Amino acid sequence: MNFEAKLAATSRLLEEIAREHGPAVFANSLGAEDMVLTDLIAKLKLPIGIFSLDTGRLPAETYALLQQVGERYPSHPIQVYFPDTAAVEAYVNQNGVNAFYGSVEMRKSCCHIRKIEPLKRALSGKAAWITGLRREQSPTRQDLGDREFDKDNGLMKFNPLIEWTEKEVWAYLRDNQVPYNALHDKHYPSIGCAPCTRAVSVGEDVRAGRWWWENPDSKECGLHVQQSAVSFIKKP
Ligand code: ADX
Ligand code: SF4
Repeated sequence: MNFEAKLAATSRLLEEIAREHGPAVFANSLGAEDMVLTDLIAKLKLPIGIFSLDTGRLPAETYALLQQVGERYPSHPIQVYFPDTAAVEAYVNQNGVNAFYGSVEMRKSCCHIRKIEPLKRALSGKAAWITGLRREQSPTRQDLGDREFDKDNGLMKFNPLIEWTEKEVWAYLRDNQVPYNALHDKHYPSIGCAPCTRAVSVGEDVRAGRWWWENPDSKECGLHVQQSAVSFIKKP
């Protein structure tokens, strides 16, 4: 499929979600893919809510973009979800502020408190959610389609960019002058929390900078897979 056809299919899918699967929300991490979807949802004037999970540990560049996006797309303000204060306080006071480097369990538990529990609140009462997942991002995303029933959260999940290449994402952002995270220009193709994301070297995989001390075949924070399959290789 050429780029124009892919873009048209993505727009049609977003319209279908708004029409037939509402109330629908889009999970926006402010990464490059998510900026494509933000721009499309706003341009198509779709009744799709947008939310972001602010873990409290995001890079400064992500907060700068969050502010910029609010100003650029006033029709679709991003609703921000924070982790439960008492849960974060208990985790940090018991385990230390950077305890996620210490073990897989500690990492999963930090992601659970800072992402998974807030995600559940963001999805509550919704019929569908939308992500910026792309198939070529990771071995764990090879088998994904553009839609599935998300059993864990009990609603439909749509991945409208599943077939897009990285080049196509950047062509869209450039052609439409969409703002993007300044870290992308500093060799961060994939951006999550600051302490768990690093720049990649030439030739490294796009997700090599995420949780770089864990096994590349299984590293996910649990937003998109059950938090069971993360194996530990070495400490940073
Ligand atoms: S992750 O699971 O490794 O963190 P990744 O950063 O590749 O995921 O993002 C994949 C998709 O998950 C994004 O396109 C977005 O839909 C959703 N997502 C990830 N992080 C967040 C976040 N902090 N807030 C909202 N959505 C997010
Ligand atoms: Fe915690 Fe790192 Fe997961 Fe962010 S990515 S929630 S800092 S373990």
